[in-house]
Amino acid sequence: SEQADMRGARLAPCLPLLLLAACWAGRADGHGVHPLSRIAIHRARVALDASAAVRASPKLLGSRGEDTAWVTVEFKIPRASDGDWIGVFSPSNFNASTCPGSHGSGPGPAICSAPIKYQFANYSSVYNRSGTGALKFQLINQRQDFSFGFFTGGLSNPALVAVSNRIVFANPKAPVYPRLALGKTWNEMTVTWTSGYGISEAHPFVEWGMKGSHPVHAPADTVTFGRESLCGRTCS
Ligand SMILES: *[C@@H]1O[C@H](CO)[C@@H](O)[C@H](O)[C@H]1NC(C)=O
Ligand SMILES: *[C@@H]1O[C@H](CO)[C@@H](O)[C@H](O)[C@H]1NC(C)=O
Ligand SMILES: *[C@@H]1O[C@H](CO)[C@@H](O)[C@H](O)[C@H]1NC(C)=O
Repeated sequence: SEQADMRGARLAPCLPLLLLAACWAGRADGHGVHPLSRIAIHRARVALDASAAVRASPKLLGSRGEDTAWVTVEFKIPRASDGDWIGVFSPSNFNASTCPGSHGSGPGPAICSAPIKYQFANYSSVYNRSGTGALKFQLINQRQDFSFGFFTGGLSNPALVAVSNRIVFANPKAPVYPRLALGKTWNEMTVTWTSGYGISEAHPFVEWGMKGSHPVHAPADTVTFGRESLCGRTCS
C-alpha cells in the first residue's frame, strides 16, 4: 500500500539551481523554425529615443505566492511601424554592460542576452493608427527579474528604442516545480525542485512523513547550473 511504501522511503532530494533565461522559452512552430531564432539579436543596435517609451506593470508579481503572473506592457512611439516589437528579457539588465568580458564599447554585439518572449507591437489593435499600444505577457518565476525592450526595425535588423522599468517576483528564489521520481532502490524516492538559493544561503531539506506522525527531515544536495552550463558560447 501507499503507506507501507512511504514508511520505507528514503529521500534523496537534489536541488538544481537554474539560472538560465535565454535558451528554452517558447515553442517551435509548424515549420520547424523556433520563433525566437528569427530574432537577429546579435545585430541589434541601441538607439534609445526619448520620444519612445515602454512601461510594465505591476512591478511586483506573485505577492500571494503565485509562480506565474500576467503583466501589462504599455508603449508609445511617435511613428508606429509594422516591424516594431516588444521583447521580454530576464535578467532585466540585458544591455551591453552584461556582455561577458566586454564593457559595452568596441566591436561585438551590443546586447548579449536574448529575449525569452516577444510580440509585435501591432498585435495591439490601435497601434498602427495611434502609435500607442498595450500587450499582455504571461511570465513564470524563473528566479531573475524582468524588463521589456521596445525595438523597431523588425526581427532581422532590430534597434532598441526604449527599455521598461524592471519587474520582479516577490520571492524570486522560492522553490518551485517539485518533481517526484522513484529512487535507485525499491524503498527510495527522489524529490527534485528548482530554486534560486545558493548553498551558502540556505540548507535545503525535505520534510516528510505520515499524517499525524513526527516528520522526518531528509537533507538535499544542490546542483548549480549557470547559463554557460547549458548554452555555451552560442547563446551566452
Ligand atoms: C504586424 O507586423 C508583422 C511584422 O511586420 C506582420 O507580419 C503582420 O502582418 C502585422 N500585423 C498586422 C495586423 O498588421
Ligand atoms: C545599461 O545598463 C546600465 C546598468 O543598468 C545602465 O546604467 C545603462 O544606462 C544601460 N544602457 C542602456 C543603453 O540601456
Ligand atoms: C492598421 O492595421 C489595420 C489592420 O491590419 C489596417 O486595416 C489599417 O489600414 C492600418 N492602418 C494604418 C494607418 O496603417
